[in-house]
Amino acid sequence: MSEERVNFGSKIGMILATAGGAVGLGNVWRFPYMAGDNGGAAFILVYLFCIFLLGVPCMVSEFIIGRHGAANTYRAYSKLSEGRPWKYVGLLGVLTGFLIMGYYAVVSGWCLQYVYASVVGQLHGDPAYVKDYFRIFSGDAVRPVFWLAVIILLSLFVIVHGVRGGIERASKLMMPTLFVLLLVIVVASCLLPGGVKGIEFLFKPDFGKFDQGVFLGALGQSFYSLSIAMGCISTYASYYSRQTNLFNSAVQVALVDTVVAILAGLMIFPAAFSVGVSPDSGPSLIFITLPNVFNEAFATMPLLGWVVSLMFYALLSLAALTSLMSLHEVSTAFLVEELHISRKKGAWVVAVATMLIGTVCSLSLGAGRGPVFGGKTLFDWFDFLTGQIFLPVGGFLTCIFLGWVVPRKIVKDEFTNWGTLRGRFFGVYLFLMRFVSPLAILAIFLHQFGLF
Ligand code: TRP
Repeated sequence: MSEERVNFGSKIGMILATAGGAVGLGNVWRFPYMAGDNGGAAFILVYLFCIFLLGVPCMVSEFIIGRHGAANTYRAYSKLSEGRPWKYVGLLGVLTGFLIMGYYAVVSGWCLQYVYASVVGQLHGDPAYVKDYFRIFSGDAVRPVFWLAVIILLSLFVIVHGVRGGIERASKLMMPTLFVLLLVIVVASCLLPGGVKGIEFLFKPDFGKFDQGVFLGALGQSFYSLSIAMGCISTYASYYSRQTNLFNSAVQVALVDTVVAILAGLMIFPAAFSVGVSPDSGPSLIFITLPNVFNEAFATMPLLGWVVSLMFYALLSLAALTSLMSLHEVSTAFLVEELHISRKKGAWVVAVATMLIGTVCSLSLGAGRGPVFGGKTLFDWFDFLTGQIFLPVGGFLTCIFLGWVVPRKIVKDEFTNWGTLRGRFFGVYLFLMRFVSPLAILAIFLHQFGLF
């Protein structure tokens, strides 16, 4: 634990930066749909249970690894495992982060294009037009690559300014902005005629929908939403100070993430229900369904529609950019510390490599242009490999590592800040890490292949 390592300068900056890494497109395009479709308030309750019983402890574990190592994820794992192969779990985290960045940047770039399209009013038209607009744009060879480069350069600009001057400063600016935009759109959406039906749909508890699949879905979403097992959380935690209360911080980050997810539901459902559209999830929700919803819902108030659409895509871009920054930092810290190069050089290498991967991913979506292996485009392969294989495997091994391999004293020292905190939840935490979390992750993993 070198004292000279840069730290976040303030508690709020540290929480906002970490929450920025966690709050991403998943909060907007996945959580609301899952909640609405799986029993509303009943799902939200289960989700909260998963977040606090499993997500938070796993996040604490990554905090412990990161802060103890005070280094990039690979090195942080090596420091704790003294020559044993556990360091490869850290390496897997770095690799997962790097690969995700390639395709996450493509979608982030799309958000920027839609900010532009909102400004110049290109999104107006009937549903067929909006659908074609997205299909033609995302399959284009030039524009997505252009926006991909723009968003990576934005992230690069932040990263080269370092932890305090870059990541922390940007997060303190971007996260509150995101929150304000979200609140304004929520109000506009809830005031639409018939919006109440959307609120009802989101919150009406329906315990009848409840089954094992729903439970595992909530569990998977809670890990995904907190960005667990991608090296992001532990890399940011390597900049935490020795005074940071790791457990409280994890709770705060989880709260921010959950509030944003629920507000996203309050933004999407009332608007969708007011025009009688049932929302879906994923890219088609934000790039096809919602532009249509905005067009219709604000048909009589075009100026308001223009503002809402612009604010919505600005919000998505911010959410995506803060997550992209956290990914950018994972690989940058790795390169800087392992290859002993400057931060600027490291950040540039990551940016250029991501642009290349992103470009290939983006081109693979163009109609007929990209190679398809096993029925998936390259883009889908990235998504599948990282999200469904690397992530659970890394998460599982991390639980085992902290629960069983790392000496208990180190874990307890980090949890209680060397005995200065009471650490009331330490026993529970360790129990969850040893038994409950690994089994839960295993269940999600097997479930997605239909084996459980
Ligand atoms: N948590 C992000 C979201 O809610 C998704 C995500 C998971 C992510 N892991 C990540 C984003 C790593 C960036 C980096 O959308």
